[in-house]
Amino acid sequence: MSEGPTLANTREELSGLLASARREGRRIGFVPTMGALHEGHASLVREAARHADLVVVSIFVNPMQFSPTEDLDRYPRTLPDDLALCGANGVAVVFAPAVEEMYAGGFSHDRVRDGVTVHPGTLATILDGESRPGHFDGVLTVVAKLFGLVQPDVAVFGQKDYQQLALIRAMVRDLCLPVEIVGAETTREPDGLAMSSRNRYLDPAQRAAATVLHRALCAAQVRAAYGVASARWAAMSVLRAEPQIELDYLALTGADLGEPPENGEGRILVAARLGSTRLIDNLPIHFSTPSLTAPAGSTTEEGGS
Ligand code: PAF
Repeated sequence: MSEGPTLANTREELSGLLASARREGRRIGFVPTMGALHEGHASLVREAARHADLVVVSIFVNPMQFSPTEDLDRYPRTLPDDLALCGANGVAVVFAPAVEEMYAGGFSHDRVRDGVTVHPGTLATILDGESRPGHFDGVLTVVAKLFGLVQPDVAVFGQKDYQQLALIRAMVRDLCLPVEIVGAETTREPDGLAMSSRNRYLDPAQRAAATVLHRALCAAQVRAAYGVASARWAAMSVLRAEPQIELDYLALTGADLGEPPENGEGRILVAARLGSTRLIDNLPIHFSTPSLTAPAGSTTEEGGS
C-alpha cells in the first residue's frame, strides 16, 4: 500500500529526506515538472521507476523560462491533485519549493541576468528558442539548479519537448554533469493530441481543432517516403485546412535538429496557437530520396520551417 509522497518545500528538507537513500547507495530517479500533472507525467514517473530505486518529482513553475508577456500568472497550480497523482504512482518525495527557495531574494529577469545562468548556445536560437527568446536559458538554469539539489542518478524528460530534451542532453554532456538522461515517449489522448498541462486552457472547439497537429505530423510521416518536400507539403495541407490555428513553425529536421537527411531518420516538429494557447508536438520521421513516382504536386516546397 502506498503511503503517498513526502513533501519537501525547502532545500534542507529535501537533502534530509534524500540523505539516507544516498548513504544506502539507492539509485535516485528524478522527474522535474511545473505541476498541473497529468497522465503524461505519470508515465515519466513510471519510466523513472524502471531506472531507479526511488523517484523524486519536483513541482516548480519556473519564472525564468517565461518572458514578461507569457502565461506565468495563469499557469495552472494544482498541488493537492499533483500530490495525489504522485502518490498513486509511487513517488517517494515531491520537492515543491517557493520561488525564493530557487532564486535567492526572489525572482526578476534583471536580477537573474546579474547572476550566473546557463546559456544554451545556438541550438536554443531555433524553433521554440526563436519564438521564445531566453526560454531555454530559463529551462537549463533551473534544471541545473534542480540537478544540484536532488543529485539524481537518472532524470526523465518527455520527448514532447524534443528541443528541451536535446538541450538538456547537451548541457549534461558539455558541463560534465553526473546524471543519466532518459527521453520518454509522448503520451497522447485517444484522438492523438499530445498530453500537455496547457490543454486545459482549450475551449471545446479549440480542443477539437487541436488534433490537427498530430494529424499533420502523421500525414508527413506517410509522405516522407517521397522526400522532405513532399512530407512538408502533406503536413501543410492538413494544417491549412484548420482555420482555428495560427501556425508558429513546421520544421523537418535531422534527429539532432540539424538539416534533414535525404535518406534516414529525422524529426518533424510543429508549434501553433489556438487562441492564446500555444501547443507543440513532434514525431520521428523516416525520409527517403524522392522517386519519379511521387504523387503529382506533392514535391512542391510550401511554407517555411
Ligand atoms: O518541461 C517542463 O515542465 C519544464 O520546462 C522543466 C523541465 C520542469 C523546467 O522548468
